[in-house]
Amino acid sequence: MSLPLVVAITGATGVVYGVEMLRVLRELGQETHLILSEAAGMNLSIETEYSLDDVRALADVVYPNKDVGAAVASGSFRTRGMIVAPCTVKTLSAIANSFTYNLVVRAADVTLKERRPLVLMVRETPLHKGHLELMARAADCGATILPPMPAFYHQPESIMDIVHQSIGKALDQVGVEHRLFRRWSGHARGAAGRPDGEAVAGEPAAGERGAGERGAGEPRAVERAATRETLRVASR
Ligand SMILES: Cc1cc2nc3c(=O)[nH]c(=O)nc-3n(C[C@H](O)[C@H](O)[C@H](O)COP(=O)(O)O)c2cc1C
Repeated sequence: MSLPLVVAITGATGVVYGVEMLRVLRELGQETHLILSEAAGMNLSIETEYSLDDVRALADVVYPNKDVGAAVASGSFRTRGMIVAPCTVKTLSAIANSFTYNLVVRAADVTLKERRPLVLMVRETPLHKGHLELMARAADCGATILPPMPAFYHQPESIMDIVHQSIGKALDQVGVEHRLFRRWSGHARGAAGRPDGEAVAGEPAAGERGAGERGAGEPRAVERAATRETLRVASR
């Protein structure tokens, strides 16, 4: 039996990380229990086309953030862990100090005390020393600090490729199997070290590429953009 995964979305920029994570987990058949902070609802309308109901519909169970008596507020309710995506500094601060004033923080505190994986996709920049100390404190209590920092070795060609890479790294921490991005497998195994032709979720295998998609030897999106920028500057 697969235990439910708790997903919380708080009001940092990048609520798309939480929304897309829920969508992916639904596709993977992983049961999700969702908590949305009040500020997450505000950012949802600022940053995306989704309504609160759209997002709630992606989860199996939804709890009000005020409901500190919900199932996930107790360690006796078993889960496979919790991901906060994205996680504000305010919520990080509350988690680091066990200031369990809402269900997001209480569920995170329970996850830590039960020694289950807690992943905090902390999002703020730049960071002052207080932020860094809060992250260190949460890490000392067992949390994984996983800011959504883009990587480029998997050759992203869209914003969603970048989002999927961060989500995939978070899912790795809670042991959810996925194929959201191409994993590094060393220099020797083809372009960018990836096994040639390997398909990943949402992407075609090499032999299945359609017109306009990049094949071996064609420039990457990032190279094309860099070339355009060079030409633009040179023509000034
Ligand atoms: C558009 C927008 C973007 C924000 N981005 C961040 C952010 O990246 N990181 C952060 O810590 N707070 C950010 N905030 C502020 C939080 O939403 C605010 O501190 C809120 O009280 C956090 O509450 P919560 O942790 O319960 O969601 C942002 C607010 C808005 C309106």
